[in-house]
Amino acid sequence: MELIDKVNTGFAETFSHAPDFIVQAPGRVNLIGEHTDYNDGFVLPCCIDYSALIAVSRRDDNQVKVVALDYEGQTDVFALDEPLVFIEDKMWANYIRGVVSELAKRGHSLSGCNIAVTGNVPQGAGLSSSAALEVGIAYAFNHLCSLNINNKDIALISQAAENNFVGCACGIMDQLISSCGEDKMALGIDCRSLELTGVHIPDGMTIMMINSNVKRGLVDSEYNVRREQCEEAAKHFNVSHLRDVSIALFESHKHELSPVVAKRAEHIVYENQRTLDAMQAFNSSNISQISSLMAASHESMKSLFEITTAEIDYLVEIIHEVLGSQGGVRMTGGGFGGCIVALVPDDLVASVTSVVEQKYQTFSGLKESIYISQPVKGVAVI
Ligand code: GLA
Repeated sequence: MELIDKVNTGFAETFSHAPDFIVQAPGRVNLIGEHTDYNDGFVLPCCIDYSALIAVSRRDDNQVKVVALDYEGQTDVFALDEPLVFIEDKMWANYIRGVVSELAKRGHSLSGCNIAVTGNVPQGAGLSSSAALEVGIAYAFNHLCSLNINNKDIALISQAAENNFVGCACGIMDQLISSCGEDKMALGIDCRSLELTGVHIPDGMTIMMINSNVKRGLVDSEYNVRREQCEEAAKHFNVSHLRDVSIALFESHKHELSPVVAKRAEHIVYENQRTLDAMQAFNSSNISQISSLMAASHESMKSLFEITTAEIDYLVEIIHEVLGSQGGVRMTGGGFGGCIVALVPDDLVASVTSVVEQKYQTFSGLKESIYISQPVKGVAVI
């Protein structure tokens, strides 16, 4: 069943009427610039054609009733004037509660509503299914209650929900691209000013995502540790964020840092420069440069930031053997499993697919999932 039919039918079956409107909020893939966002640096993601769909109707009271169609119709019900608490055994509900509590904190006056949620962003794959849900919910209340919140603020509210309610100290990348993404373009994001620069995907290239299906363990704790290590390095350089440390400054002082912190900081300082270089390389269709930048980014995530796994490294290696300098491949997202992203010439998509199908399961004991998407636009009422 089409996703839109699923959300319409599920909504009608639960609430016995049709929704007033449906919001679509996409997941994302990051082409380069990993863990740079919370260092006030640069990232280069695009939205993908996999989304959260949120169907909504207004209620006359202050109740919010939510049904999660992908969780066997589990429901969550709360009143807008009650203090919202975290629910241990219904993780999906916390993303919605988190957004509502951030909207309320900012003084927005909200109306009660019925909500049905579904989606096809693979979960736990590093493709930002949770950011899609948060952004979709924030946008839905914005639309329902005519709050006039702009898309950057939708992203900031969604990130705050994740930071303050869900408890993951994530940066701004996922929520910002899901809310501000543009059709057929990646966006270079300056995570300090939140300035967005449209970047072209070279003609004749396909974006492939291959999910290692490695169950991501320890993600949040390791993520938060990386963040603390970056903060420690920034403090040593007497700056607020590693964004402010140039390669030259880093090189002349790196021996003063502990070996682990030096490795983490080296990744960030060089990854920022690689991301800026990649924005130019994409716009000038310089595929061989994109190829080397993505390869260097992966190597840095593997040996310096230490967030890859053997399965992910293997996928990158076998795909790189097919692509050479005709395309790029690297892990994407927070790490410790999830997906690799590959920029592949259209005529090599079949070869990449078949090498992965032939080799990955034998190596890892896991079956991959393969997704293909052009960049799509960010959140909207459909
Ligand atoms: C996760 C976080 C983002 C970003 C990436 C790594 O997706 O939510 O803010 O830090 O990891 O680049």
